[in-house]
Amino acid sequence: MKIKKIQNAELKDKKVMLRADFNVAIEGGKVKEEFKIKACKESLIYLLSQNAKVALVSHLGRPDGKVNLEFSFGKIVEDIERILDVKIKFVPDCVGEEVKKELDGLQDGGVLLLENVRFYEGEEKNDGEFSKKLAENFDVFINDAFSVCHRDQSSVTGVAKILPSFSGFGIQKEIENLDKVKNDPEKPAVAIIGGAKIETKLPLINNFEKNYDNILVGGKIANEAIDQKIIFGEKVMLPIDFVDDRFDIGPETIDNFKIAIANAKTIVWNGPLGKFEESKYAIGTEEILDAVLNSGAYTLMGGGESVEILEKKNAMDRISFVSTGGGAMLEYLSGNKMPGIEALEE
Ligand code: 3PG
Repeated sequence: MKIKKIQNAELKDKKVMLRADFNVAIEGGKVKEEFKIKACKESLIYLLSQNAKVALVSHLGRPDGKVNLEFSFGKIVEDIERILDVKIKFVPDCVGEEVKKELDGLQDGGVLLLENVRFYEGEEKNDGEFSKKLAENFDVFINDAFSVCHRDQSSVTGVAKILPSFSGFGIQKEIENLDKVKNDPEKPAVAIIGGAKIETKLPLINNFEKNYDNILVGGKIANEAIDQKIIFGEKVMLPIDFVDDRFDIGPETIDNFKIAIANAKTIVWNGPLGKFEESKYAIGTEEILDAVLNSGAYTLMGGGESVEILEKKNAMDRISFVSTGGGAMLEYLSGNKMPGIEALEE
């Protein structure tokens, strides 16, 4: 599928809605996940270089279609400003006159951050009237939030049907790198799948069974698969030993996984292999990370926990591509439809 690109958009002096994903973890009032916020920076800088008037639009949490100041961007606007290194003005609504007034008065180099789109129930319902209201203050829609492209919601697909719409640089890079591992991985190709919820990861494992050489499974999903007596093909390697009450993969499993990793030319990894938030159960994940970093393979990791592990180990720059997508990356690699990407089709 070919998608429309920001590079081909007419942007000069246009009012542009830039859909970002600022749905980040917050701790003690501070943003914990800077990586996801930074993902829209290249598009933002490009838009400003084209003299566009930009408003950033995102959701935060699941406030259930009601105003809930716990999920207000007003709380983290200064953090976002610092992370993106641009002057940002917060607008306490995402539709209506106030947005129009602020866009009209926007100074050169300035950017607006609109309030959480999920304060309106129309957003998650992809309500046509709400999409119209969201779109009416803008000339162009740029989607640079790959991590929400599995959602069929107003600020992802609804406005894309109304305004001239294009993919940002972040989405383009995600698709390019994910397509490489999905369709044409250099062999031997190894997938490492951990984390929780076997039902969400089974389609991914099954998809990798088609053209990957080994699928290494650890973490909570390995326990779930064993308990549910799920039968896999011979490419899938489940742990053969554990630490304590199956809180981490054991030394023999680590050795087996390392053998597969050492030969790999492509490695895709999603989800921790044990209860890594407790250091005594992080050994499996850490040892496997070392093996991945030293493998010389093309490496791709994604999801909030993966980013957390990489940041903790100061290894973000040592992975070929880190995806912002958690659920979205799983959906994409499982071969499922991505409404947000389909909405940008040429
Ligand atoms: C994410 O954090 O995975 C995306 O922002 C999507 O959020 P959602 O699962 O609340 O739709």
